[in-house]
Amino acid sequence: MKALVTVTHPRKDSLTYHVMDRFIEGLKQNNHEVDLLDLYRDGFNPVYTAEDEKDWQNPDKIYAPVVRKEMDRIVAADTLVFVFPLWQYSVPSMLKGYLDKVWNLGLFGKVDEKKVLWICLTGGDQAHMSKYKREEMLTQYLNVILAGYARVKESRVELLYDTLSESKQHIESLLERAYH
Ligand SMILES: Cc1cc2nc3c(=O)[nH]c(=O)nc-3n(C[C@H](O)[C@H](O)[C@H](O)COP(=O)(O)O)c2cc1C
Repeated sequence: MKALVTVTHPRKDSLTYHVMDRFIEGLKQNNHEVDLLDLYRDGFNPVYTAEDEKDWQNPDKIYAPVVRKEMDRIVAADTLVFVFPLWQYSVPSMLKGYLDKVWNLGLFGKVDEKKVLWICLTGGDQAHMSKYKREEMLTQYLNVILAGYARVKESRVELLYDTLSESKQHIESLLERAYH
């Protein structure tokens, strides 16, 4: 299986980055192929411009080369994995910009058979996330609204809770989960 792993975090020493590393370690040990997209370090520009706009009359519109390159990477992968921290109960703006620009009409019909995995790190613990249906809202947004809109058949969310904990044991358990 080939996985396109997209990581979103401004710092390489972040827990998000370590989670991504451990996840990829697990993939490689199981002989899966990995294509890594590091939105910050690869210099992805998340700002949506007029050039990026969908053309509802023309589903075959030719998008900017950088967008086409990212679409090709998606098409070449079997599974799309996103590793990111929860910011304002949503995806960070960098990732949102990527989704706005790359997950558009041009991808429709090309991702049906792919799987998506959203690995989201939350500062809040499990009780915090279930209050006010925060977890339900987020899961629904990622699985149904985003992946469903792109017609992806299988989408799954894994929340890694309580990421600001000072317990080394807890943090290690999150990394272990990412690996497995
Ligand atoms: C801008 C910003 C917004 C955040 N919003 C939330 C939030 O809405 N809910 C939450 O549980 N944690 C929130 N957090 C905490 C992050 O989820 C937490 O810092 C992250 O999971 C820890 O991983 P990291 O060390 O890789 O950043 C926020 C953090 C930042 C910097």
